[in-house]
Amino acid sequence: MTDLLIATNNKHKVEEIRHFLSKLPFNIRSLSDIPNGPKTIEDEPTLQGNALKKAREAFQATGMLSLADDTGLEVFYLAMKPGVYSARYAGENATYQDNCDKLRFAMLGVAPRRRKAQFRTVIAIVGKGIERTVEGAVEGIILEVLRGDQGFGYDPLFVPNGFSRSYAEMNIEEKNQLSHRARALEKAVEVLQSI
Ligand code: IMP
Repeated sequence: MTDLLIATNNKHKVEEIRHFLSKLPFNIRSLSDIPNGPKTIEDEPTLQGNALKKAREAFQATGMLSLADDTGLEVFYLAMKPGVYSARYAGENATYQDNCDKLRFAMLGVAPRRRKAQFRTVIAIVGKGIERTVEGAVEGIILEVLRGDQGFGYDPLFVPNGFSRSYAEMNIEEKNQLSHRARALEKAVEVLQSI
């Protein structure tokens, strides 16, 4: 079976992606399986730029077909911030809790109809003679208080449209049926099946 390297150290992302791609004929690896794997600096101004950079560096370092995801939470009231800066919204070494707290305070007192946001994921797939990107997004609203303890990142603050529970109140199967990453992964599967 061909190796497919998920170019991230984020165990939550690996879990979601692995779960989603489990039926494909790939031997799924992640950067935590690769000693001295690349530590990509995510300094591109766009999600697409960062996703491509991570997948290219992983492919160059290992020769394996590599898939990387870059995700941002775009809040309309905050002019689409934190966006590409979602991981370090509250500072360089910010925790998920720090970032959620900062967002919660930035949205304090903002009326329900102005709490619209979207999660957007860009997935890059890079291999020999292959360089593709696909995108998936889900709109929803930012909660006033954190709800739920599953998932990661901003999950406790985001309720997707058409649902009453936050991502953090859903298990991995539910999140994988509707999330921004799942939408991008559906397109990534088409790319993977065509190569
Ligand atoms: P990255 O640069 O793609 O690793 O993601 C940036 C940040 O977005 C992460 O540190 C998380 O805080 C957040 N993030 C990414 N994906 C998700 C998700 O599926 N749910 C909630 N937060 C996420």
